[in-house]
Amino acid sequence: MNFLDIAGISYAYGDEASVVDAVDWDIPTGAFHCLVGRSGCGKTTLLKLAAGLLVPSAGRVRIDGRPVDGPRPDVGFVFQAPTLLEWRPVLENVLLPISLRGAVSAEDRARAGELLHLLGIGDLEARYPLELSGGQQSRVAIARALIGGPDLLLMDEPFAALDAMTREELQADLLDLVAARTTTVLFVTHDIAEAVFLADRVAVMEAGAIRARLEVPIARPRAAELRHDARFNALCLDARQAMRAPLAA
Ligand SMILES: Nc1ncnc2c1ncn2[C@@H]1O[C@H](COP(=O)(O)OP(=O)(O)O)[C@@H](O)[C@H]1O
Ligand SMILES: [Mg+2]
Repeated sequence: MNFLDIAGISYAYGDEASVVDAVDWDIPTGAFHCLVGRSGCGKTTLLKLAAGLLVPSAGRVRIDGRPVDGPRPDVGFVFQAPTLLEWRPVLENVLLPISLRGAVSAEDRARAGELLHLLGIGDLEARYPLELSGGQQSRVAIARALIGGPDLLLMDEPFAALDAMTREELQADLLDLVAARTTTVLFVTHDIAEAVFLADRVAVMEAGAIRARLEVPIARPRAAELRHDARFNALCLDARQAMRAPLAA
């Protein structure tokens, strides 16, 4: 069963040419798919269409069999910048999606604390965002996206601003968290090695269209050493070539 089902969606900003052009994409329940492509090729627009933040000019999106007509609580979204509220302590930032919907319970607080603990920043819950490093802020944004127990996680280059070591740590933590919850994930990145490390399948986007799809038949859980594996590097090369290859006539 496909948890996310995108059929023939297109989108144009105003009267301009389509920046997402007839994209089809199915993600089975619990699968982790990555979208790679150069800056400006339409990745963020596609993610916003999947989230119901933009309305497609053609085609449709279904999540868990139901048409998407706006943002919904069973979908978590992580933006490229952590977008934390700097006047709220870390724990309150994580609880934000719950507090926007109603009262925050003691269980909600306990769950937020547990998520921060799982993400390795349990001791920082009383700090303010400006007192955190970039990697710690990203961890808070991930906890905030997970607090509602989403079945689908949409992530837009969430680690792009981080140093390589921190990024690799967060990749491992993210894989552990989503595997434990059978979360379906669509993750946008321009980093090919990140995409191959995380994904069951990598889609390469160019000029608004998906121009290649690459399976990643590597078992899970995936260890950091995988990055030195010949098979892993061969898959990265395949993806790189798909990104470089000219569009078919
Ligand atoms: N709000 C907007 N209004 C007009 N054009 C936009 C807007 N947002 C993005 N675009 C254009 O749409 C194209 C795709 O953008 P985007 O989806 O952000 O690409 P990516 O995330 O791959 O960098 C780009 O050419 C960009 O300039
Ligand atoms: Mg983008």
